[in-house]
Amino acid sequence: MKHITCIDDLRALHKRRVPKAFFDYCDRGSYAEETLRANREDMQAIKFRQRILVDVSKRDTSTTILGEPSTMPLILAPVGLLGMQHGDGEIHACRAAQAAGIPFTQSTMSICSIEDIAASVEKPFWFQLYVMKDRGFIKDLIQRAIAAKCSALVLTVDLQVIGQRHADIKNGMTVPPEWSLSKLLDFASKPAWVSGVLQGKRRTFGNIAGHVKNTEDLNRLAEWTASQFDTSLNWKDVEWVRSIWPGKLVIKGILDVEDAEEAAKTGAQALVVSNHGGRQLDGAPSSIEVLPEIADAVGDKMEIMFDGGIRSGQDVMRALALGAKSCMIGRAYAYGLGAGGQAGVAKAIDIIQKELLTTMGLCGVNRIDEIDDHVIAV
Ligand code: FNR
Repeated sequence: MKHITCIDDLRALHKRRVPKAFFDYCDRGSYAEETLRANREDMQAIKFRQRILVDVSKRDTSTTILGEPSTMPLILAPVGLLGMQHGDGEIHACRAAQAAGIPFTQSTMSICSIEDIAASVEKPFWFQLYVMKDRGFIKDLIQRAIAAKCSALVLTVDLQVIGQRHADIKNGMTVPPEWSLSKLLDFASKPAWVSGVLQGKRRTFGNIAGHVKNTEDLNRLAEWTASQFDTSLNWKDVEWVRSIWPGKLVIKGILDVEDAEEAAKTGAQALVVSNHGGRQLDGAPSSIEVLPEIADAVGDKMEIMFDGGIRSGQDVMRALALGAKSCMIGRAYAYGLGAGGQAGVAKAIDIIQKELLTTMGLCGVNRIDEIDDHVIAV
């Protein structure tokens, strides 16, 4: 980890250490990847105003997220299959987040179950929910999140229809999963990864296994899961979730002002401006492009969170300047996990915090609540 200086280094190491099918699953986007690219290109197009001779000796990244203290305006986003990037990946990522003093969000599509994580970490974590067709199962999942004392529910609303990632099909990351000689040879060339994953607690979807009969049959489990995405989902379902989840609710996957205004009526405390990291609607705008208008429209009614394309502390600063109160990262920490487990995730968080502190200093800012569009060059 000593020679790792940026998130790109973690990505390169992840790529070397983890089988191609899982690296690509993490790295790639849907269809022509226009939105995936736009997330980065639009971010990099935003330039800062350099300010000099301002006393920046008291810089501090601490803030609050959903009313709770956080050491920085950063959240680990829900990322599916973390346990395939590194054995017990969800537990390692959660521990790294808690040690750094920021929230971790567990995906519905995790390898470890809610209970596996709850038994392995000190503090509450957030749980991300996909509302599937089997509402009895979803109700049960929410009860499990309540029993595990999850401190927020992140309801993801942009996966009613599933965008296609060409790389996943080519790599056999399909339902059912496809095996090939080249895939097996690739696995065999990464023995450290194989033994790490085999030592992990579960090798299926931990939150779903147990619900589906014969879950030892991976094909069956994958097929059931894929058949459960509900194209009829609508705002009434959000009301239903609200009625059975008593805690803080975050609606994730908003890109449109009208949808943001609708979300503000649900009683949810926060929304995440997100295009699912360029993995869903290809051709949708970058998240950073739509952030200012959404923050203007509902920023006084809900906490605005942001994700999509954050690879540095500079990017966090850009999103805060354009109206976000905090940022989620997905790939940035998943690369860290693939590169080096918990230490790799800790490294990703540390890199971003240090870059944020430096950027604040060079823009003449000491506190997170001082960051607004004055730090942006027009
Ligand atoms: C995701 N994302 C995601 N979101 C969600 O709500 N539930 C999930 O299970 C997943 N799974 C998932 C897997 C992988 C491999 C990635 C990269 C992303 C989306 C994620 O929460 C977040 O919105 C994006 O990752 C943000 O973009 P960046 O930070 O990856 O550019």
